[in-house]
Amino acid sequence: MDTGADEWSSRLGFILASIGSAVGIGNIWRFSTIVGQNGGGAYLIPYLCAVFLVGLPMMILEMQAGHRLRAQVVQAFHAARSPLRHAGWVVCILVTGIIGYYLVVTGWTLAYVVFSLSGTRELFGVFTASFAPIISFLASAAICGAVISFGVRKGIERITTLLVPAIFVILAGMVLIAVQLPGFAAGVSYFLTPDFSVLADPLIWGAAIGQVFFSLSVGYGALLTYGSYFRSGGEIPRSAAIVTAADLLVAILAGLVIFPIVFSYGLEPAAGPELAFTTLPLAFALMPWGSVIAVVFFTLLFFAAMSSAISFLEVPTVTLASMARMTRRRAAVIMTFVVSLIGLPAALSYSAYPLRIGGVPVLDLMDETFGTFGLSVSGLLIAVTFSWFVDPEVIWGDTAKSSFLMRLVIPLCRYVIPAALVIAIVFRAASWVLTAG
Ligand code: PHE
Repeated sequence: MDTGADEWSSRLGFILASIGSAVGIGNIWRFSTIVGQNGGGAYLIPYLCAVFLVGLPMMILEMQAGHRLRAQVVQAFHAARSPLRHAGWVVCILVTGIIGYYLVVTGWTLAYVVFSLSGTRELFGVFTASFAPIISFLASAAICGAVISFGVRKGIERITTLLVPAIFVILAGMVLIAVQLPGFAAGVSYFLTPDFSVLADPLIWGAAIGQVFFSLSVGYGALLTYGSYFRSGGEIPRSAAIVTAADLLVAILAGLVIFPIVFSYGLEPAAGPELAFTTLPLAFALMPWGSVIAVVFFTLLFFAAMSSAISFLEVPTVTLASMARMTRRRAAVIMTFVVSLIGLPAALSYSAYPLRIGGVPVLDLMDETFGTFGLSVSGLLIAVTFSWFVDPEVIWGDTAKSSFLMRLVIPLCRYVIPAALVIAIVFRAASWVLTAG
């Protein structure tokens, strides 16, 4: 029976699919939002430290664990110690929560592709006062489930080898346009000038670590799952370094597009999550060729979001297929249905029926609980399980001795990353208690 035990056709296929997972709205929408809200370039130093000290080692650990144990999330935890399989289920549940709202935002990008193609300049407020966000959310979930149902090689790999190169080409073209804008220098200096005074603020460091995990797709088991389909050959550390570099490059190129546009048209760089959907369309309306640029920009966002959403949905789908011994296709149908239910309140919260809890839209609450807090928890479970509870020889083989840098990765995974995540969890919980009290 086909329970999805499929594999990548080549190392390139594995790398492109992993880049597809990492490069997402996190790089373009969330990164520029956070940079804008944290005073521009100030944020870049903690971000870069977090990428290399926390994100990359964690990515190597996850891919390596999947590759060596050849197992999906729950089985991999089970292989470490059998009671730890419950921790594997926790990771699966958290991922399923995240994908629910991630597909809502993916749906927004899809709707904006359609609007910009038809030449309508839809205001975000008008869009979210209709039921269109529900339709675009369900359409995105269906596309995502359909791709996964075709399997690793014929579904995920085939689609990501098309989308990922397209993302780079589109982004490079947009940088060429941004360079010619009058506000290019102002935008770049806002984006890239570091401010050393903020380095003493622990919240900035916590925010940087959270963003790096989200952006690199580490801590959710997605890259562990992708690593498990990489059967032949080794070179995981080098593949992880390429994926990390590509992710960083996209985040920086996206900043080099967005901030010059913001400064050229006198917009607000700290506009928050609405930046991409509210602020930028204002600029597109004023730019020469703006309607074409809008189509291209939202297509970029949609491709990036979809290739990430696919890797999210793959985690619970392949887990269900192998634990319940059903075909991948059936598991994909069931999981698409489940995430459509889970995401529905989030989709409603930005629609004509604005569902809120305590005045906060459900989508924002889900981002806070699953995307930020839940991510630290599942990252901690993964880091601790695979660096403490599995024989290092099993996870690392000869890789650990291969270079000086690799000898750094293991202590980073054992001590530094869990410590950073525990601090992040405590800070977040404390801030909840303080605001509630
Ligand atoms: N990395 C994706 C982004 O930047 C989000 C993501 C996280 C996707 C984890 C899959 C798994 O948008």
